[in-house]
Amino acid sequence: MISISVLSLKGGVGKTSVALGLAGAAAKRGLAALVIDLDPQGNATSILQARHGRSHAAAVLAHPTIEVLQGAITKTAWTFKEGRVDVVGSDPELIRYDAWTGKRGFAPKLARAMRRLEGYDVVIIDCPPSLGALTREALAASDLAVVVTTPSYFGAQGAERAIDEIKEIRATVNPGLRFAGIIVNRLREKTEEHRYRKRELIAIHGPGAILKPAVPERVALQQAESTGEPISAVKSAGARDVAKVFDKQMARLIRMARDADASE
Ligand SMILES: Nc1ncnc2c1ncn2[C@@H]1O[C@H](COP(=O)(O)OP(=O)(O)O)[C@@H](O)[C@H]1O
Ligand SMILES: [Mg+2]
Repeated sequence: MISISVLSLKGGVGKTSVALGLAGAAAKRGLAALVIDLDPQGNATSILQARHGRSHAAAVLAHPTIEVLQGAITKTAWTFKEGRVDVVGSDPELIRYDAWTGKRGFAPKLARAMRRLEGYDVVIIDCPPSLGALTREALAASDLAVVVTTPSYFGAQGAERAIDEIKEIRATVNPGLRFAGIIVNRLREKTEEHRYRKRELIAIHGPGAILKPAVPERVALQQAESTGEPISAVKSAGARDVAKVFDKQMARLIRMARDADASE
């Protein structure tokens, strides 16, 4: 089982779109994917049209046991011939767990609950738009961390802060955590400003730190989200472009996790 956090300092950069794109790509590859929605806004939970379960992510943080975690997993409306996507849904209660508790006393709860989780190939954790306690919970429970950014003036700066947070968690509670790379989202290839910002990110973080290919700006993604469908279910050229990108990124993340396992 590979566990991947999708994070950023800011909202609106595409964390949820990327998290769900990766989950859909995993399911298309015949894998069983679990999305854990740690954003109190619950966008991923809505887009997946999660069946109303008895429980949700906040309950897992309140009582971090495998039984509570299993009780919080629900089916989604996303169906695939090949694999599946289930979800641990968000809840407004989650906001209570984002309060700053200080780094010293941080005892990860989600990671504890996930230790005995079985039946999934990939777990994808969608983080809230901050680097607070919920994002730390996600990082503590992950093998890989993906930082999402847009090709903008504040993009590089935000990515840097997120990478620092990943290093901090790796140095303290989760030595197994690896920074997988930055996903550049909403790229308009023909816009000079966007090409410039992409080059800037590469110059700061190095070519190896950018997960290729970048996700292009496509309205198909917004259409898929408003109808609550995976991008692979939308029949348009734009949808196919985006689906192909997520598939390549998912394949790369799987390889990365296997390589890390082999070198241990
Ligand atoms: N590559 C893209 N092309 C077009 N629209 C996008 C793209 N990525 C994200 N969006 C849109 O931008 C908005 C914010 O994305 P979202 O994934 O919810 O961001 P976050 O989770 O970081 O807050 C959504 O309406 C989403 O549909
Ligand atoms: Mg989101």
